[in-house]
Amino acid sequence: MSADLSPIDKAKFAAARRAVDLIEDGMRVGMGTGSTAAWMVRCLGERVREEGLRLQGVPTSTRTADLARQVGIDVVSLDEAKWLDITIDGADEFDPELNLIKGGGGALLQEKIVATASDQMVVITDASKEVHHLGGFPLPVEVIPFGWQTSRALIEELLESMDVLGRQTTLRLNGSQPYVTDEGNYIVDLHLNRIGNARQLALVLNQVPGVVENGLFIDICDMVIIGGSDGKVEI
Ligand code: 5RP
Repeated sequence: MSADLSPIDKAKFAAARRAVDLIEDGMRVGMGTGSTAAWMVRCLGERVREEGLRLQGVPTSTRTADLARQVGIDVVSLDEAKWLDITIDGADEFDPELNLIKGGGGALLQEKIVATASDQMVVITDASKEVHHLGGFPLPVEVIPFGWQTSRALIEELLESMDVLGRQTTLRLNGSQPYVTDEGNYIVDLHLNRIGNARQLALVLNQVPGVVENGLFIDICDMVIIGGSDGKVEI
């Protein structure tokens, strides 16, 4: 599967392949969204087809659901599975405490619900996502479309009192239109550069009227698997 890949895809594939080794017969598995998670879904599908591995997969986006069905995985909803043995997902950044920024692919809401409903969350990534302090990657905040400009203004006001380096915010676009999530919401990206207290920011952002969820994953991730372009992994 990895023969003609670019170095970055080789790294993502290596991490995905290693993570899929953690899956045992009969497990209920949360499946993340993004290019790294897509490798994991393909590797999982390979085990289903070649080894007859039985599992229930809960996807975190319509994209992941479509890919999982294509590769032969039994897709069920979170409400059907109720609780998951493990979730495997990518990330946009992770720090030494394994706190994350996620949502670059716009699926943070389902990703956070699914990861939180799992015994274990494993992040698969390449080394470029490792940071000392979160915030270099824009922090996605999902807001409902009604009054989104008010929610954005309230977020900007809140940021004035937060320990962050940057305070610019942008509405995520899809061409000239707002990007719309699977839940029909918009995403405001916060360009913070460095987040001093990610735990506090994660809590207060969700108090803003209109905010549905933010992309800070605090105390949710249990393990990070870092793939290298040489095919080696570090855990
Ligand atoms: C999607 C996510 C992704 O996990 C994150 O953006 C990383 O994506 P990729 O594996 O393509 O770099 O949070 O909402």
